[in-house]
Amino acid sequence: MRLLIVHSRAPEYAALIDRSVPNLDIITARSGREVPADMKGIDVILAWRFPKELLRRATDLRWLASTGAGVDHLLIPSLPEAVVVTKAPPIFSGLITEYVMGYILYLTLNIEEVLSNKRRKVWAAPARSTLAGKVIGVLGMGTIGSEVAKVANAFGMRTWGVRRTPRPSPDAEKMFGRNELESFLPNLDFLVVTLPLTKETQNMIGGRELSLLKPECWVVNVARGRIFDEESLAAALRTGKLGGYISDVFGVEPLPETSPLWELPNALITPHYGAITPPEEFIPYFVDNVRRYLRGEPLKHKVDRKKGY
Ligand code: GLV
Repeated sequence: MRLLIVHSRAPEYAALIDRSVPNLDIITARSGREVPADMKGIDVILAWRFPKELLRRATDLRWLASTGAGVDHLLIPSLPEAVVVTKAPPIFSGLITEYVMGYILYLTLNIEEVLSNKRRKVWAAPARSTLAGKVIGVLGMGTIGSEVAKVANAFGMRTWGVRRTPRPSPDAEKMFGRNELESFLPNLDFLVVTLPLTKETQNMIGGRELSLLKPECWVVNVARGRIFDEESLAAALRTGKLGGYISDVFGVEPLPETSPLWELPNALITPHYGAITPPEEFIPYFVDNVRRYLRGEPLKHKVDRKKGY
């Protein structure tokens, strides 16, 4: 097995792997630019984001392992069907849930005004609201979405969820299918997006869907920017048809300076920092898969290439 690691923290990943499976043939590259021109014999790649043309050059590739949960950027049409793609194990739910609840509380506790008052030495109580009784909609009740729902319930929120194949969830008061957004969206105080980006979910939330939301509703996106039509989104935010948008993810990252989102006071932009993979948590799962691979056994956390996640 010849393993290529393409990651800004590649040496750290390599050292952790070497501790568990010594003497593997490992090549490290901190970015696409450091990848050797000759990729012959490389049968396994461990990576986060990297230039697509590298995949075309990796002609001996058999297993592509992502350090992240979303693999939309890796599933390019030229990737041979025989290449097994694996995603990160479910280690992000806690971090993402903290992000979602943290920013929702930032809004309801009016922390922005508290900070502004503090800077001006003003003792004044800003208006605040409570989470209890508010309706939170989780679009994508997978592992991450279900954890968000659990914690929202603990705050006394009413949780509604959407799944590709709807079935009751112990964490949601009501569940909907993806084709039932008309019933799901209009009642929400908060919409949290935790869906994978696939052909089906790209631009899933456009002008029509946004117009179904209450004008006070805030959206929190921890999935992928392209699930939204960002132009319609900016228009809805500008015209007050939507309360606001908190997002860690954008169609183009880093978000270009020309994006209208930067200028909108009701858009809160964070730099994809919600759940950065901790190598020491990720590697035990990867090492388990390496051992499986070496024994010719099926790999865990395999992506369903047809579904796209
Ligand atoms: C992060 O965005 C991930 O997909 O893990």
